Amino acid sequence: MNKRFFITTAIDYVNGQPHLGHAYEKILADVIARARRSLGQEVFFLTGVDEHGQKVQQAAQARGLSPQAYCDELAAEWRAFVKKLGISNDDFVRTTERRHQAVVQAVLNKLYAQGDLYKAPYRGWYSWKEETFLTDKDREPDGSWHPRWGEVRELVEDNWYFRMAGHQSWLIEYIEAHPEFVRPETRRNEVLGFLKTRELEDLCISRPAARLSWGIPIPFDPDYVCYVWFDALMNYFSIPVAHGDRDAAAALKGFYEPGSVRDGEMKLWPADVHVIGKDIVRFHAIYWPIMLRAAGVPLPAQVLVHGWWQKDGAPMSKTTGNVVDPVAVIEAWGADALRYYVLRELDVGADGNWTDAGFKARYTAELANELGNLVNRSLSMLRRYRGGVVPARSEELAAEARQVSRESRELLEQNQLQPALLKIWSLVTRANQFVDQTAPFKLAKDPAQAQRLDAVLYGLAETCRVLAVLLWPFLPETATKIYAQLALEGSPNRFAAADWGGLPPGHRIGEITPLFPRKDD
Ligand code: ME8
Ligand code: MG
Repeated sequence: MNKRFFITTAIDYVNGQPHLGHAYEKILADVIARARRSLGQEVFFLTGVDEHGQKVQQAAQARGLSPQAYCDELAAEWRAFVKKLGISNDDFVRTTERRHQAVVQAVLNKLYAQGDLYKAPYRGWYSWKEETFLTDKDREPDGSWHPRWGEVRELVEDNWYFRMAGHQSWLIEYIEAHPEFVRPETRRNEVLGFLKTRELEDLCISRPAARLSWGIPIPFDPDYVCYVWFDALMNYFSIPVAHGDRDAAAALKGFYEPGSVRDGEMKLWPADVHVIGKDIVRFHAIYWPIMLRAAGVPLPAQVLVHGWWQKDGAPMSKTTGNVVDPVAVIEAWGADALRYYVLRELDVGADGNWTDAGFKARYTAELANELGNLVNRSLSMLRRYRGGVVPARSEELAAEARQVSRESRELLEQNQLQPALLKIWSLVTRANQFVDQTAPFKLAKDPAQAQRLDAVLYGLAETCRVLAVLLWPFLPETATKIYAQLALEGSPNRFAAADWGGLPPGHRIGEITPLFPRKDD
């Protein structure tokens, strides 16, 4: 049984409207998932929603719904959002599902049995909005609390704590020995800097059910529910267990209810990549590995941290209405246009700024005038000059296509998405140049140049085919359309098909339509 390449996104809080930032994260993970599948790996791609906690309980109350009814409604909306984006996820986790809760409770039972958890009183300043206790270090210079914390009140209550003692030094060593564990480098340095300058405090992992009932019950103390972050992080592990990952389940043997965990044939854990945003690095690069180590479970291979999008130079915020609605963009321009823009605009890690003008400029200059035009004129000339029948194989552009395939493959294997896209685009640019240099419309006027024209037309049509294969992880709809216009069977979803010469001489191409129609405002 082969281990699958296991990739995850953060799970989104259900309360709140999906926006560009959520779409971006899913698109990044989707490109990596598709690229790995194209390269022949078996992949499992997990996304989903984070449903427990104070904010959801409050939002449900405000709507006059039970938390479960509220979550059912919102989870359906988030699922539809993922579908609209064309994301190729294999599962969609909801943290209210029994399959998830069973594993969270089993881990809590194991940590409790090992003595990693203890109960103690806590007095502190609590942010209701961020669901976290604050310390004096979080105060503003004038002693006040920043408005981003929302309402801050002093609370005294008993809670369950997870011991951090002994974890800090191995984690520092681990991150130093595994440069790929936190990517990109700036984020890794940030984590190491934090770990080396601050002593980790024990993590409060419970909330009294009396003030917050909307959570997973602590199995050995029903007056408490599990802290939402402990619950949420565990989704990355609970779903492999739920799918029958035997090694994962073995770590919890004896700690879950008999029958709640199934023993099957899937090998997923450890995760290969957790794709997350820059605001939740500490949870993923510090608390998550410590939780796993304490539970006796191997660590994930990589936490891949992306930057944040603004719109028109200001943070996206529902209250100010400054948001990019990815669904509206998809409805007007297509999912691939959105994917292309965000992937081309930002390298993973950098922050971005969406402007409608910038989006339209790339659509017109790069998608319509470069890629769209290349495919359209290459196939139109094949239709006009050769009745749409592929001529004898030639090696025109073959060397360039081979080099771009090889180099983009290496970049994709390192999750270097923007560099891979740029590399592939260099073939688009080269092929457009080739049309200008060889001037097929002139060759067509001279019967003595018929063989030369055959060679040029083959080279261009075959380059379009190769581009469909290379672009598939990035622009799956467009790649599929190129294959359809070439009247090729199957899908361009296998990287191996990028080998030169796949287009058979004598084959008749299909109907040609513009890939990226120009839009007038
Ligand atoms: O943090 N640009 O959920 P969330 C880019 N439930 N990415 C953004 C963004 C922006 N403007 N705004 C948000 C949570 N994101 C937790 C996660 S994981 C076990 C639990 C990203 O809905 C953000 O960085 O607030 C995060 O990775 C994801 O969207 C979900 O954010
Ligand atoms: Mg957030």
